[in-house]
Amino acid sequence: MIELIVNDQVVRMDVPPDMPLLWVLRDHLELTGTKFGCGIAQCGACTVHLDGSAIRACVTPVGSVAGRRITTIEGLSRGDALTPLQQAWIAHQVPQCGYCQSGQIMSATALLAQNPNPGDDEIRTAMAGNICRCGMYGRIHKAIRAVADGAVAIWDPAAQGDAREVQHG
Ligand code: FES
Ligand code: FES
Repeated sequence: MIELIVNDQVVRMDVPPDMPLLWVLRDHLELTGTKFGCGIAQCGACTVHLDGSAIRACVTPVGSVAGRRITTIEGLSRGDALTPLQQAWIAHQVPQCGYCQSGQIMSATALLAQNPNPGDDEIRTAMAGNICRCGMYGRIHKAIRAVADGAVAIWDPAAQGDAREVQHG
């Protein structure tokens, strides 16, 4: 029996200790916001937090994180209250197909938690392991920059038309 703390909830599962954490999250806990991309720690789609730091769940044996605190994309916000970074993501229209997005947000969130005002090179370095096949790197960078600079407007669905005009590229 393996015990984890996932999104502030204690969970116990009878799974092999060498099972990848990604399998546990998606197949056993039905937290499918975390994606499978490459399976070899090369794309970042499976990024989650281990005690606040970004890790690749596809290459993390669940037994190696027993008793530790895991946060997934589902655990970032509280109900409808998005984090400032999630608000910036919307304002800058970052998602396209969306597949890489939870991993991108988890990596960026970990960066800003450890370094609230990163320089442009620090952002690029921290995000280098997260691949976006839709090529949204510019918008990802701008959204992170907006939070670092304290320039995030609160997301208002009623102003959706205005928000769509914020950034193009
Ligand atoms: S699926 Fe884990 S890094 Fe690609
Ligand atoms: S938004 Fe499509 S892969 Fe990044």
